Amino acid sequence: MYLNMHIYQTLFFVLREIDVVAKSFKKFAIFATFSVLSGGLAQAQDAAKGEMVFKQCMTCHRIGPDAKNAVGPALTGIIGRQSGTAAGFAYSPINKAAGENGLVWSNELIMAYLPDPNAFLKKFLTDKGKADLATGSTKMAFKLADEQARKDVIAYIDKFSEKK
Ligand code: HEC
Repeated sequence: MYLNMHIYQTLFFVLREIDVVAKSFKKFAIFATFSVLSGGLAQAQDAAKGEMVFKQCMTCHRIGPDAKNAVGPALTGIIGRQSGTAAGFAYSPINKAAGENGLVWSNELIMAYLPDPNAFLKKFLTDKGKADLATGSTKMAFKLADEQARKDVIAYIDKFSEKK
């Protein structure tokens, strides 16, 4: 009788543990699914908001499969592209020099560039030991300080990058 009680108790304990594990796994699965879904959604929203922000860039830039250079170079495929290399665009010497000295645009670098393009290019060249080339100024006479706006516009631009 005592042995039976013991077995029942053990069995009860084991079943309860299985239940706890199963429940927490379920919670985790729900949480994981939700995270993935909301993550995807957040990104889509960023790009949609970024399209609105990009209207400011459109004073000078175009983007998309048929985009041509305008006041500024076409930005299709800008992420992953060497700075100053849009075909047929007459860049300022400083923008071109940065590219020739290793500037390849990434999301992070455009993030750092937008608040002050001229300062960014000067610092880039100076850090590369090319202070002599860090002269004159970029033709990109536009600054975007707002962090969220920069994130959103980059999410939008990223949709047109080569790797996609
Ligand atoms: C008033 C016009 C103007 C506006 C507005 C403008 N840009 Fe530019 N942008 C330029 C010009 C001109 C260049 C070329 C710079 C040079 O040759 O020095 C340029 C260059 C760039 C480059 C480097 C391109 C390359 O091939 O190396 C990036 C990236 C860029 N702009 C992003 C943006 C984004 C994003 C916005 C909007 C948030 C924006 N620009 C708004 C005129 C503008």
